[in-house]
Amino acid sequence: MATILVTGGTGYIGSHTVVALLEQGYSVVVLDNLVNSTLVVLDRIEQITGARPQFVQGDVRDAAALDDVFGRFAIDAVIHFAGLKAVGESVQRPLEYYDCNVNGSMTLCRAMARAGVFKLVFSSSATVYGPDAAVPYIETMPLGQPSSPYGASKAIVERMLSDACASDERWSVVALRYFNPIGAHASGLIGEDPLGIPNNLMPFISRVAVGKLEQLQIFGDDYDTPDGTCIRDYLHVVDLAEGHCKALNRLEESGYHAINLGAGKGVSVLEMVNTFMTVSGQPVPYVFAPRRSGDLPAFWANADKARQQLGWVAQRSLHDMMVDTWRWQSKNPNGYGPSR
Ligand code: NAD
Ligand code: WQD
Repeated sequence: MATILVTGGTGYIGSHTVVALLEQGYSVVVLDNLVNSTLVVLDRIEQITGARPQFVQGDVRDAAALDDVFGRFAIDAVIHFAGLKAVGESVQRPLEYYDCNVNGSMTLCRAMARAGVFKLVFSSSATVYGPDAAVPYIETMPLGQPSSPYGASKAIVERMLSDACASDERWSVVALRYFNPIGAHASGLIGEDPLGIPNNLMPFISRVAVGKLEQLQIFGDDYDTPDGTCIRDYLHVVDLAEGHCKALNRLEESGYHAINLGAGKGVSVLEMVNTFMTVSGQPVPYVFAPRRSGDLPAFWANADKARQQLGWVAQRSLHDMMVDTWRWQSKNPNGYGPSR
């Protein structure tokens, strides 16, 4: 069975993907600099799967470290999650974001080429469609002008990867454009554990429910949507992880493929809060607050290409996403704990 290098493999989406890969019999090498994760994740992965991935603490911007990894392990393909992902922080610290996300991806690709490895799955984002795209987002739309440095970094890397594929037919790249991944592994052993106060909706809700935060602010109740709150396409992180395994099969064919991974339907912020309260039985006090700068009123995926080309359809319901989030949060009220 093939050996997969997973950069950012101790992070939220990476850890769920490592579990899926190990369960399917792949050998896995994780490279992570632990800037936003902890080694405890490796123990949890082992608890779930009975297998422990190889781990290298290192940075994707470190060419020598990458050469060392490709020298030590016979890597067949790379799944590249490593990067910084906080939209607001990227506006404050754009150079760090371009360095980590763009320079990191470029350094990785050059090391891959030196090692003769040309198969890559890249973590892209719905944000590459930019603020002016019509919904639902479909892959035939051109890349937009994302409003944050974070979004721009994803669009730049997509462009770079597509140019690399056009220049050399050995490259085979799938850029997966994630919509809003939430939820956790059904074991309750791994999940999302943001440092400090969460930026994203689902971890904020679950921390209010577990008593770590007092109340949720719902950013905007006057959008042109049925209940006035924003609409997003939430998908279960385990479905997303399985999408990466399916994308590996697509790498048999060379060239560049950008594919949306979303549930294909929109859910409002208020629906999210109400569903979570019903499923968990916990109160989630909230107040309406002004709109958050940069938020779009509503977007969701056209998920046809993933079904047609990967044989992937999101299987898990909103109810599953909420049950699994709550299991993770209530079993781990302090996330991965002090090591974080
Ligand atoms: P995460 O922060 O939990 O995981 C990223 C991992 O990469 C962390 O373990 C971090 O320590 C590591 N890392 C960061 N910079 C690194 C570097 N220079 N070298 C080596 N390791 C490094 O984030 P996530 O939610 O799991 O996201 C994974 C990827 O998916 C990111 O590229 C992110 O931009 C993308 N993405 C995430 C979402 C989302 O909503 N979570 C949506 C779309 C795209
Ligand atoms: C969802 C909705 C908020 C927090 C971001 C990135 C995107 C992707 C996923 C990486 C919005 C509302 C939120 C809160 C709230 N990441 N909200 N109160 O903004 O759709 O996407 O994460 O690629 O690129 O932009 O996700 O979870 O932050 O927000 O009312 O405390 O919840 O206004 O309508 P978003 P989110």
